[in-house]
Amino acid sequence: MRLSGLALAAAGLRLSTCLSQDADQKRLGSGHEGSRRPNIIFILTDDQDYHMDSLKYTPLIEKHITSQGTFFKRHYCTTAICCPSRVSLWTGKQAHNTNVTDVNPPYGGYPKFVSQGLNEKYLPVWLQEAGYNTYYTGKLFNAHTVLNYHSPWAAGWNGSDFLLDPFTYNYLNSSYQRNRESPVSYEGQHTVDVLATKAYGFLDEALEHPDRPFFLGIAPVAPHSNVEAHTLEGDPKDIDKAVRFTPPIPAARHAHLFPDAVVPRTPHFNPSHPSGANWVRKLHQQPPENVAFNDHFYRQRIRALQSVDELVDGLFARLEEHNLLDNTYIFYTTDNGYHIGQHRLQPGKECGFEEDIHIPLIVRGPGVSAGRVAEIVTSHVDLAPTILELAGAPSRADFDGEAIPLTEGGIERAEGNGGRHEHVTVEYWGFAATEGKLWRKDEDRIILNNTYKALRIVGEGYNFYYSVWCNNEHELYDLKTDPYQLVNLLHPDEESKVPATILGVPFTKVISRLDSLLFVLKSCKGQTCVRPWQTLHPAGNVLNLQDALSSRFDYFYETQQKKVSFTKCELGYILESEGPQFETDGLVYRHGLRWDEWV
Ligand SMILES: *[C@@H]1O[C@H](CO)[C@@H](O)[C@H](O)[C@H]1NC(C)=O
Ligand SMILES: *[C@@H]1O[C@H](CO)[C@@H](O)[C@H](O)[C@H]1NC(C)=O
Ligand SMILES: *[C@@H]1O[C@H](CO)[C@@H](O)[C@H](O)[C@H]1NC(C)=O
Ligand SMILES: *[C@@H]1O[C@H](CO)[C@@H](O)[C@H](O)[C@H]1NC(C)=O
Repeated sequence: MRLSGLALAAAGLRLSTCLSQDADQKRLGSGHEGSRRPNIIFILTDDQDYHMDSLKYTPLIEKHITSQGTFFKRHYCTTAICCPSRVSLWTGKQAHNTNVTDVNPPYGGYPKFVSQGLNEKYLPVWLQEAGYNTYYTGKLFNAHTVLNYHSPWAAGWNGSDFLLDPFTYNYLNSSYQRNRESPVSYEGQHTVDVLATKAYGFLDEALEHPDRPFFLGIAPVAPHSNVEAHTLEGDPKDIDKAVRFTPPIPAARHAHLFPDAVVPRTPHFNPSHPSGANWVRKLHQQPPENVAFNDHFYRQRIRALQSVDELVDGLFARLEEHNLLDNTYIFYTTDNGYHIGQHRLQPGKECGFEEDIHIPLIVRGPGVSAGRVAEIVTSHVDLAPTILELAGAPSRADFDGEAIPLTEGGIERAEGNGGRHEHVTVEYWGFAATEGKLWRKDEDRIILNNTYKALRIVGEGYNFYYSVWCNNEHELYDLKTDPYQLVNLLHPDEESKVPATILGVPFTKVISRLDSLLFVLKSCKGQTCVRPWQTLHPAGNVLNLQDALSSRFDYFYETQQKKVSFTKCELGYILESEGPQFETDGLVYRHGLRWDEWV
């Protein structure tokens, strides 16, 4: 087949465009006035959705960031829960490489972040090494508490004021802990308003040192649920005794807003047929009083977000006042998404559906196009590489992501030749939690065995989500024909809906490629995570799913390669339970190296 030769030629081309893209970004990073390096402000909300229109309710974010910047419409988190997602974000590593896979010890939380040696190996530390002053306020990680905040101190910050457990999500009784001081309780004040004052204070501090560029992280808790926690630890099964989830609490001045807003009634909202796999497929349709409560929950989220909208407005007033906008990048994103009612789910996250993993990323700054929507696939592990590049700091070989092009030229090149990765590695271990009310006797707040490996892949002519659960159930959604993920093509009940061919080949051939890709990704490290097809095909003639579908690879994918599977559902990353591993049991395609064999 001719295609492969062309693909190889294209690979060479891609290499050179990657280089020029790098150069482009470097110029961008070094600023326009000689060596003046840019400031970076990173706003990280908590559990903010893309799919339930939350951004439509924040006109000031629209005015200052979206309309003046680039919206990355295919941005994903890699693990749809707070702490693992934040650790991946700030380290540039997939959760299987941080092994911070949960919100609490033993598998996650701040103590696990520390014991994994990551307190010395994350973004603020590298930025300080690169000559930046670094500041952060808000939630850093879960299980960062009023008891352990100093053992050890979170490294890398010139100034910090952290929200601490068990008061992190307590909207009206938060505890913040500043620099080396003791925690302070803000009983009766709205947590996001408290945070805004702290953020502005750090901006002032940063401005006292005009000789050094700064990084400022602002991490409000909105629109996460309000959580009243009574103890710091406990068995997840006893969570109801330890914590109480209620809808988010807006500031009093916003409590009356949007009286008519409801969760968008998309086709997958509380559908009449079950969807998904495993426990999701067993959910019951929600009765009207449940839906009404969930709509209230939804309104409380967008009301709580109003304080973030105002925080952003105040921030931009200061940036303008100090003439900082021509040399400051502003990132806006969230740790993971959220669902309410889609697939009959109660309010929560932790699933692999688009609602939970597909999230907003908006960037504004010098050289970034205003009002542009970028189509390239990006994920949270790409952000640390992006920020280091902006800072003009060296990249790291152990990053599982790659810098996101921010300039018009860089984005266009990546969109045009597919020179960027087309996939996102999605992974999850442990339990899912219901954050709304429980409506049935057989409903549990904590749902165990919510462990799965998955991938999202979006390329020319295809758009899939593929996953393997720890009980070895499989999921495949063809989002081109089923954007709401209502038909799991790998569930026995949906057999009649399986198309004979996809992308011009039998359905099973596509599955075999996706499974092998996931086989590589579930334990990938560094460049293998970014260029998985090149790991399977070192000759460099397979760069995407379309290339891999060539029939001469049928035997390799369908017969030779081991399949993704689990032997047990675990609450964390227990290697022995995760079936064959690519490094020990996988195969690399070694034929066809000679050009005359390509035919
Ligand atoms: C910020 O911290 C770094 C690393 O400790 C230090 O080199 C730098 O001087 C600090 N900046 C200020 C303004 O104190
Ligand atoms: C608020 O939090 C403090 C601890 O930071 C606690 O002592 C106090 O009882 C809490 N107030 C309420 C109303 O829960
Ligand atoms: C969860 O997984 C474990 C281990 O794989 C299994 O023994 C148990 O039956 C599963 N529980 C449910 C509710 O599926
Ligand atoms: C991840 O951490 C858990 C808890 O400490 C440990 O049991 C497990 O072996 C670790 N997994 C890997 C792959 O290192």
